[in-house]
Amino acid sequence: MCGIVGYIGARKAQSVLLDCLGKLEYRGYDSCGIAVLNDGIEVRKDAVRVKALAKALAPLNGTTGIGHTRWATHGEPSKVNAHPQCDCTGRIAVVHNGVINNFQKLREQLAEEGHTLASQTDTEVIPHLIEKYYDGDFVKAVERALKDIEGSYTMIALMAGESRLVAARKDSPLIIGIGDRENFLASDVPALLDYTSRVIYLEDGDIAVVNAGGVRVKNNGSPIVREEHKILWSVEDAQKGGYEHFMLKEIHEQPRVIRDTLAEYIASAEPIADLTAAGGTGPEDLLILACGTSYHAGLVGKYIIEGLVKIPVRCEMADEFNYAGQVSARNKALVITQSGETTDALKAVKKLKEAGCEVIAITNVVGSTASRLADRTIYTRAGPEISVAATKTFLGQLIALYWLALPYARVDIRRLDELVRELRQLPVKVQQVLDNEAAIADIARQMAGYENIFFIGKGINYPVALEGALKLKEISYIHAEGYAAGELKHGPFALLGSRTPVVAVVAQDNTCEPVITSIKEIKARRSPVLVLMSEGDDDTAELADFVITVPQIDPLFSPVVNSVALQLLAYYVAKQRDCPIDFPRNLAKSVTVE
Ligand code: F6R
Repeated sequence: MCGIVGYIGARKAQSVLLDCLGKLEYRGYDSCGIAVLNDGIEVRKDAVRVKALAKALAPLNGTTGIGHTRWATHGEPSKVNAHPQCDCTGRIAVVHNGVINNFQKLREQLAEEGHTLASQTDTEVIPHLIEKYYDGDFVKAVERALKDIEGSYTMIALMAGESRLVAARKDSPLIIGIGDRENFLASDVPALLDYTSRVIYLEDGDIAVVNAGGVRVKNNGSPIVREEHKILWSVEDAQKGGYEHFMLKEIHEQPRVIRDTLAEYIASAEPIADLTAAGGTGPEDLLILACGTSYHAGLVGKYIIEGLVKIPVRCEMADEFNYAGQVSARNKALVITQSGETTDALKAVKKLKEAGCEVIAITNVVGSTASRLADRTIYTRAGPEISVAATKTFLGQLIALYWLALPYARVDIRRLDELVRELRQLPVKVQQVLDNEAAIADIARQMAGYENIFFIGKGINYPVALEGALKLKEISYIHAEGYAAGELKHGPFALLGSRTPVVAVVAQDNTCEPVITSIKEIKARRSPVLVLMSEGDDDTAELADFVITVPQIDPLFSPVVNSVALQLLAYYVAKQRDCPIDFPRNLAKSVTVE
């Protein structure tokens, strides 16, 4: 995690850096800082958010600088641990995103050699190593320092007296924004949208020397040309557009996300990806890997593909798979990652590829690492997602999974037509859920006083319960757990009672009756029940203490409308509890550490 930025040009670096950092806070926000080149290097940092730092700073004069917003890994959030980190002389400053595995050994060596390290961070060894190897050539000193480092070290270095920035990418993203006699560096595209739409994506192992007039990139000691890309996201995409929070804006964007994502898939005459297994005659042995919300999308995908294509699908958490998962060259794998940069997901891609397995990535970020490692990429067209809690990218992933499965569906042509028609209706149905926002907000206010809430669902809505619980816990800090409806009685029943409500997702398929049975059992243990169900199901409504209705829909697509309703529920509970919705404590949007 952590967001890093750099600027070199004619503008005042301070305001560019702080502006770009503000747009990277979704990557980490426990402390932040900037270093600006003036006569020497001026460092300003603190354990505060970017806005507070900006407010506290007097203007600095330089037009070259680097900045950082932190998600702590080594050392608590504090002024001394905030980046930039400097060498002994204060002439070299570094911002870093990643984890240096051998930092303890390097610290000890540097201390023995007379360096004084002030922070608890792993990062601080980098400026000291650059200082150690500096013999008049800044770039060579950085290259030499990086040779000593094991781990992930995407970083930017600045040195007094040098009119250039030296950046390196290893295991987390770094892009260069190309301007007119000015250049930018950032962890991610949204930081730069106000300044340029021309970017270069650096690859692992790249070292870039950036000055106002140009960029030189080397990999493995040899110069290399990295292609320039045009960014299609607009500035407005990364702004709140009148909403109080990015999360609410992103929830409301979902009809548009479904339309844009579908429009792109429909325009292609071919299936968006070939599910046929290597050497096989039809799709088989499909493996889905992902983390967090993307994992929940993968679980929904398992039900979609098993239901339509009638093949067994394994869906695993990427991190678990990386340690214990078995895979053969016959497997075909889908790796789902909205950012395309999650370390656990990328490790899974690498493991799959080493096993000779073909990998299809589903991601929202063009040019992301996942898209470059995978054999084929399916893009969701959600636009930049700024809120830490994923919403619209989750929906985009579901749409990709439906569209992926449909060409292989073992159903008759009438049913296929019906499914495609229903899929095209989804933007309207999601809009109807959004139109019910005031009623959901009202129920949310009544739920906001509880401290423990269970979510249950069955079949294709079991992952919806998991996702509903995840959304609620991450933004409202209420302890929430998602369970398969039939599983709650195997232990968690011990926790039921009048202070532990249960949110039950009821769908109009063969899971309806068993979920209603579970609701009756829960009511008998005095837990208040909030039922999420289709309009018109009066019998089920009678069982409930609270009811949220969604439009009637083919059960295969019910996860789409149900998830949107649960996103709104989580949002309004968190709002009632006055939580920092877009930036929940301890989290970051892009998890680029193991
Ligand atoms: C939760 C959330 C996370 C991410 C997870 C994977 O709202 O956003 O659980 O889903 O960190 O991220 P990606 O999809 O970028 O691999």
